[in-house]
Amino acid sequence: MNAGLMGIGHYVPERILTNHDLEKMVDTSDEWIRTRTGIEERRIADDNTSTSDMAYEASIKALEDANIKAEDLDLILVATVTPDFPFPSVGCLLQDKLGATKAAAMDVSAACAGFMYGMITASQFINNDTYKNILVVGVEKLSKITNWEDRNTAVLFGDGAGAAVIGPVSEGRGILSFELGSDGSGSKYLYQEPQGFMEMNGREVFKFAVRQMGQSAVNVIDKAGLTKADVDYLIPHQANIRIMEAARQKLELPEENMATTVKKYGNTSSSTIPIALSEAIQEGRVKDDDIVVLVGFGGGLTWGAVALKLGK
Ligand SMILES: CC(C)(COP(=O)(O)OP(=O)(O)OC[C@H]1O[C@@H](n2cnc3c(N)ncnc32)[C@H](O)[C@@H]1OP(=O)(O)O)[C@@H](O)C(=O)NCCC(=O)NCCS
Repeated sequence: MNAGLMGIGHYVPERILTNHDLEKMVDTSDEWIRTRTGIEERRIADDNTSTSDMAYEASIKALEDANIKAEDLDLILVATVTPDFPFPSVGCLLQDKLGATKAAAMDVSAACAGFMYGMITASQFINNDTYKNILVVGVEKLSKITNWEDRNTAVLFGDGAGAAVIGPVSEGRGILSFELGSDGSGSKYLYQEPQGFMEMNGREVFKFAVRQMGQSAVNVIDKAGLTKADVDYLIPHQANIRIMEAARQKLELPEENMATTVKKYGNTSSSTIPIALSEAIQEGRVKDDDIVVLVGFGGGLTWGAVALKLGK
C-alpha cells in the first residue's frame, strides 16, 4: 500500500510575542531579528496549556479533516522534545484525551526533524499493510525550555502543534520517496541541558542547515524519479528565512511556491512542517495532485525529507 496524507490540522496558542516585546526583554532589535531570521512574531502557550493539550487541539482537526474517529486510530506517534513529563509519553496522554481506545502510542525524539521521522515511521506500517490509520503529531512548547535572558535563542522559538493522519492512498499518490539521516558528532551544536535550557551554536547549525536542506530536497526528487520542474511547492522546516531561501533557490522555485510561516510563528521545532502544510492546504496554495517537498533538520543532528503527492 502507498502511504499518504488522509487529513491534517494545526493549532497555535493565542498569545502573540512580537519582536518589539522582545526588545524589552533582551538586548535585541526588531530590525536585527527580521533581517537575520525573517521572524516578526511568535506564539506562546500560557502556563495552563501543556504540550499534550496543543497536540489534542491539532489532532481533533486532523481527524475531522480525514473524516475518521479517534477509535479508528491504530497508532499515535508524537514528535516532540518538550513532553509534559519525561514519561509517560505525550503519545499516551494524547491517546487518552482523544479516546483512541485501539491505538498504540509513543513519542519520537528527533528534534526539529521529528515530524519527518514520525511520518516515515508511520508510512512503513501502512506500506506493509499492518495499520490503516496513523496519527502523526509534531508539537512543542519550546517556551518552557527557552532562556528568556539569552538573546541568541530567545528570539527564534515559539509554541504550536500540527497533526496529520497517514493512511493508504491510491497508486501514484502519497509518499513517493524519502530520506532520513543523522550526524551525532554535531550534537554539541544544539541541545538542552538536563532540566535546563536550550543551548545553540547558531553559526554551526546555520552552515549545516543550508547544506543539508537543499541536498535532502534534491535527493528525494531524484529518488522519486522527478525533476525540479515537477515540484509544485516546498515546505522547509521554518527556522530562518535565509536557510529556507537557500533550499528554495536550490530547487529553482519561485518565492510564492514556498511556505513562510516562520514570519508569524518563529521556529516551533517538530511542528513547523505540519503547521505550514496544514495552512497551505487550508488556504488553497496546494491541492490534490500537487507534488510537495517537505524537508526538515534539527538537533541531533537530524534531517529528513519527503516527496509527497497530495490526494487520496
Ligand atoms: C542565530 C542566527 C540567526 C544568527 O545569525 P548570524 O547572521 O549567523 O549572526 P552571527 O552569529 O554572525 O552573530 C552576529 C552578532 O549578532 C549578535 N546577536 C545574536 N543574537 C542577537 C539578537 N537576538 N539580537 C541582536 N544581536 C544578536 C551576536 O552576538 C553577534 O555579535 P558579535 O559579532 O558581537 O559576536 C543564525 O546563525 C541562525 O539562524 N542559525 C541557525 C539557528 C537555527 O536554525 N536553530 C534551530 C535549528 S532547528
